[in-house]
Amino acid sequence: MLPNAPVVKPASDDWTVPQDWEAYRPEDHAVWDTLFARQCALLPGRVAPQFLAGLDVLRLSRPGIPDFAELSERLMARTGWQVVAVPGLVPEDVFFEHLANRRFVAGRFIRRRDQLDYLQEPDVFHDVFGHVPLLADPVFADYMQAYGEGGLRSIKFGMLDRLARLYWYTVEFGLIATEEGLRIYGAGIVSSFGETRYALESDVPERLPFELMRVMRTPYRIDDFQERYFVIPDFGTLLRATRDTDFAPVYGALRGLGDY
Ligand code: PHE
Ligand code: FE
Repeated sequence: MLPNAPVVKPASDDWTVPQDWEAYRPEDHAVWDTLFARQCALLPGRVAPQFLAGLDVLRLSRPGIPDFAELSERLMARTGWQVVAVPGLVPEDVFFEHLANRRFVAGRFIRRRDQLDYLQEPDVFHDVFGHVPLLADPVFADYMQAYGEGGLRSIKFGMLDRLARLYWYTVEFGLIATEEGLRIYGAGIVSSFGETRYALESDVPERLPFELMRVMRTPYRIDDFQERYFVIPDFGTLLRATRDTDFAPVYGALRGLGDY
């Protein structure tokens, strides 16, 4: 699909479409291979070890853009997750419903060669390379499912915008403290050549310890490298602070508090 094609609701109720793997051109696969090789060279020593451990689920029988059917088979065997194709951004409740059922929705189009470094909407490289390896980690896999359930609940509380910040500062732009040092794990960083180094090495952004209330009170920017990152000690701590915490009182407290 073309990146700029208008997104119309597909016939399926859950917004999924066939990936149509056969329709990719050799150039599409070549763009994937270029991005893949570039990030694989950059990430060791910079990314969470769980991400590197999950990377081989992406090494399928054919090079190029992964076939979601084969990828899902691999992922299903590890953590029970699947990858399904959608035409672009989907409504929030649809997105959460998929996550709650351990289905990750991914765009199927890939950027052009003149967009290797920057793209406004997520393409298949961001969605699959950025997000799928950690879905092969059992603890992170559970976090993503819980987030989907929590997302559906946040809508009822009218707190979706606050909960979205949690996704942003963990799943997309999270940092993790390991014994070997600070590492990236958020998909928005991991899939970006420039932000991988910036997030770890630049003196410009703030790096704050993860604290649930602080995260949910912090707006974010979508048009440039982040001004701040939140650092978790480990995925288990993230899971306990979210899945195992009732957000009803958290949302109650947030109502009386402003943003940072
Ligand atoms: N435990 C949260 C609630 O009570 C849901 C949640 C789980 C939110 C995981 C984010 C991540 O709503
Ligand atoms: Fe993403």
